[in-house]
Amino acid sequence: MTNAELLATFKERAIQIDAVMEEDLTIVASPLLTEIIRHAIFQGGKRIRPLLTILAASLVGPPPADTARLAISFEYLHAASLLHDDVIDHATLRRGAKTANTIWGMEPVILAGDYLHAHAMALASEVGGPAAMALIGRATAAMVESEFMQMHNAQEILISEEKYFQVLMGKTAALIAAACEAGIGHNLGSAEQLVALRTYGTNLGLAFQIVDDLLDYLGDPAKTGKAVGNDFQEGKMTLPLIKTLARAEAKDREVLIGLLKATPQERSQQLPLAHTLIKKYQGFALARAQAETLLTQALAGLAIFGEAPAKEPLTGLAHYVLSRDK
Ligand code: IPE
Ligand code: IPE
Ligand code: MG
Ligand code: MG
Repeated sequence: MTNAELLATFKERAIQIDAVMEEDLTIVASPLLTEIIRHAIFQGGKRIRPLLTILAASLVGPPPADTARLAISFEYLHAASLLHDDVIDHATLRRGAKTANTIWGMEPVILAGDYLHAHAMALASEVGGPAAMALIGRATAAMVESEFMQMHNAQEILISEEKYFQVLMGKTAALIAAACEAGIGHNLGSAEQLVALRTYGTNLGLAFQIVDDLLDYLGDPAKTGKAVGNDFQEGKMTLPLIKTLARAEAKDREVLIGLLKATPQERSQQLPLAHTLIKKYQGFALARAQAETLLTQALAGLAIFGEAPAKEPLTGLAHYVLSRDK
């Protein structure tokens, strides 16, 4: 299958996933809650996590009919985490639209996130039983822990690569790995197959977040739907900057550290300077290379499936993650 054909099949599946969510969300009664949830779910979104659940399930044979319902629980949890994340980050723009917190304020949006989270758990336990429920629960706990880690890290000027990856494990990789593992588990994959999908999902998740962090600097807001330079403005150290600080000459390092100690307004004004320095020390290229290495590790996780044709979409999705511009 060509890349374009693969993307077309993802698009088609995403449409099916949306239809299942449409149907499922008719149970929400409150008009305001419905409005916020619809904004959180149907305002774009690549549907990576539910796609992974379905593709992982398909690896070991035709997936059970209710797999899509299990899959959407991961999209709900993802949407819940974004609702809360945008409150925490004071974000005003997501998927090219105003964030829910900008439109409705914090209180109803936090509650809507709680609702989606609870609903995701109910759905996962109904369709996938205790195993799926445990996966969702552990992934959520990891996400919250990593948010606390991030808060703690924000008080420090310099963050190590190790701490950066600890945060990534929790905030992105845990949920992506759980979505993969739940899928193959739902189709009665063996213990070994579950571990393989966890390896794939974890490494893919880490690569995914590195790419996200690169897009924060290099992306086109018209495509990403998010403001550019937000991480730097917020003083958040991500891999390109961490790599740069580890390699920069004293003089350049001082400049960057000075900026990290400055106000968000000053950082925002000096974004082009930060950009130039990161480029000078290959911070972007090094981060990208690391994402590529992680991707190779993700694909190595799938080695036990040999040449199974059902592997192709998971391989394709992994490559899409690296090449995506949104
Ligand atoms: C954004 O995830 C948040 C991260 C974990 C980086 P996605 O890039 O999957 O978000 P949508 O759902 O496609 O907007
Ligand atoms: C992504 O975190 C959200 C979660 C995984 C909870 P970030 O704050 O780093 O990502 P964006 O840029 O807002 O999507
Ligand atoms: Mg954010
Ligand atoms: Mg955040």
